[in-house]
Amino acid sequence: MKHLIIISITAILLFSCSKNEPLGWKYPDMNQVPKTPAGDMIKYGKELISHTNIHLGPYAENPARRFAGNNLVCSNCHIDAGTRPNTLGFVGTYLLYPAYSGRVDTIISIRQRINECMVRSMNGRPLPFESYEMNCLVAYYQWISIDVIPQVGEKYDALKKLKFMDRAADPNLGRAVYNRKCNTCHAENGAGAYLSGEMEKGFDIPSVWGIDSYNNGAGMYRLITAAEFVKQKMPYYNANLTDEESWDVAAYLVSKPHPFMAGLEKDFPDLNEKPIDCPYPPYADSLSVERHKYGPFTGLKGKVGK
Ligand code: HEC
Ligand code: HEC
Repeated sequence: MKHLIIISITAILLFSCSKNEPLGWKYPDMNQVPKTPAGDMIKYGKELISHTNIHLGPYAENPARRFAGNNLVCSNCHIDAGTRPNTLGFVGTYLLYPAYSGRVDTIISIRQRINECMVRSMNGRPLPFESYEMNCLVAYYQWISIDVIPQVGEKYDALKKLKFMDRAADPNLGRAVYNRKCNTCHAENGAGAYLSGEMEKGFDIPSVWGIDSYNNGAGMYRLITAAEFVKQKMPYYNANLTDEESWDVAAYLVSKPHPFMAGLEKDFPDLNEKPIDCPYPPYADSLSVERHKYGPFTGLKGKVGK
């Protein structure tokens, strides 16, 4: 049985390599990480991404290390520690920084970008720039970008684009999709499920809204990002939504309460850089928050994409 599984996994890998994997992009091989202190940092970086809650979450053993404000782990969104194509991957990310960020209208380092997810997706506070944890995260990013051509990495890490709908995405239609295809795992109240039912142990299935979720300043709180992610990856193991279902169920997630982040009106000082689906004002046009939150997106001023 084990052999059969290995053979079929190899077959799947070979198939997906030849079919999907372009030249200049490859899965990182963690077995090649050297057994040195530098290698240990790379492995710990991956561990931090996969089990963020244990080391940096609200129940981390050392209270001084409780940087994240929720029990999510980075790889709940950056699937398999960012090694899966088109699901917010990290392969090649290291090579893209320093990079311009519209959110602050200046060039930022990868450390600053990591902290944006710490503060928003993880609803927490920034890691000190020179902390051991930050250095390990950066070491992991660097390792998995070895041999990657930046442009290829960027294309492969990005979520696959969804065609915009002519109508606004509809949270009511989305509720029906959610109750059919999501609530068996993420629960009717969006709270997901904890291991053995205990919050201290972390998520078995992560929450998608509510107090232990990403906050309203996070990338996942934007309709286009959420719709593209869900289309690509949900339901887990069996992504099967139509484009329309993806838009509507994303609208349902966006319509639900999330932790509140103060000061969001200061994001994107140059409003032309603001993504059109940014769910909080001000905007470069005079259209409503509702319109930016749910679309339709034709005729809106701002950036398409991140
Ligand atoms: C709730 C989902 C979610 C979680 C959890 C999350 N992120 Fe992210 N992250 C995103 C999204 C969405 C983006 C892309 C946003 C955009 O469009 O700019 C992103 C982007 C990034 C990027 C930039 C990637 C690039 O190619 O430029 C880094 C680095 C990153 N995240 C690190 C982390 C780390 C480290 C953690 C855990 C401490 C984490 N993220 C947790 C959703 C998440
Ligand atoms: C079979 C169980 C299952 C089903 C059904 C499912 N998910 Fe998920 N979902 C997961 C798991 C597990 C993760 C975390 C993935 C990981 O850590 O690798 C996740 C992650 C997510 C995330 C990102 C992390 C977060 O908590 O915000 C979103 C958003 C999401 N799911 C939305 C949906 C939507 C919408 C549906 C229905 C269309 C759905 N899921 C159906 C299991 C499921």
